[in-house]
Amino acid sequence: MNIFSDIASLRQHLSSERHIAFVPTMGNLHAGHLALIKHARQLSECVVVSIFVNRLQFLPHEDFDRYPRTFENDCKLLAGLDVNTLFAPDEKILFPTKQEFLLALPPVADILEGEFRPGFFRGVATIVLKLFNIIQPNLAVFGKKDYQQLHIVREMVNQLNVPIDVVAGETVRALDGLALSSRNQYLNKEQRAEACNLYQTLLHIKQAIISGNQDFLTLQDNATLHLATRGWKVDYIRIQRQDSLMPAHPGDTRLVILGAAWLNHTRLIDNIEIDD
Ligand code: PAJ
Repeated sequence: MNIFSDIASLRQHLSSERHIAFVPTMGNLHAGHLALIKHARQLSECVVVSIFVNRLQFLPHEDFDRYPRTFENDCKLLAGLDVNTLFAPDEKILFPTKQEFLLALPPVADILEGEFRPGFFRGVATIVLKLFNIIQPNLAVFGKKDYQQLHIVREMVNQLNVPIDVVAGETVRALDGLALSSRNQYLNKEQRAEACNLYQTLLHIKQAIISGNQDFLTLQDNATLHLATRGWKVDYIRIQRQDSLMPAHPGDTRLVILGAAWLNHTRLIDNIEIDD
């Protein structure tokens, strides 16, 4: 595996590649990331993975400093997956000067995650566009685990005519249903055992909707109450439309149930789709 930390040598190395698949990450790789990379590998001989903990997408009080950084182990995992190229720049490479050009995002970036993490998607979209410009891949793989992020990257690519196919990877879960996430390691044993209940609660809503319940507001409220009684602090549980991420109304199909909630100081997010 070739590891690059600067843009010129990465570009030089990639210049002879005809088809590139790209998987952006913030490192601390787990089976969720690895599944995206395997997916990319099936779609292209040349897979580029990036590892960069992007300061632009963390609010001042968030976990940028303590976000887990496990570069050596990440490299071992990538080498085992037949990844050709790793781009792991430091901040001086991506932000040689203060990043003053930032994307202005549509209203969908201000709901759900955006309501609780203002500026988050602006930081994500800006870094993703920079990485796209640096690597110039043919396709890029993003996980459904971060459903709204995937939606916003897709919209960005469409509206800014970026010539890259955005491919979605399914959420990889632990045996008890908890979506894998780098932040799961902040959980102690007791919290880890409780954590699967976010997914279970979303699943419960899905089953109610499939059985014909269309009272979305009550379903959301009951789920919020249920998690609160188990000790969670819920940011949101929402039933939305997959195509727009706007609130679903009775009769709508192709829904997605999204949730974000805190277990003590750890914030977890998850979602489940309901297809026709
Ligand atoms: P990170 O959280 O490292 O995630 C990198 C990619 O892995 C994202 O596309 C995310 O959706 C996907 N992913 C995370 N957990 C997953 C799981 N359990 N199953 C499947 N896919 C999963 O998302 C980011 O980094 C950043 O915002 C980034 C896009 C790199 C921009 O900084």
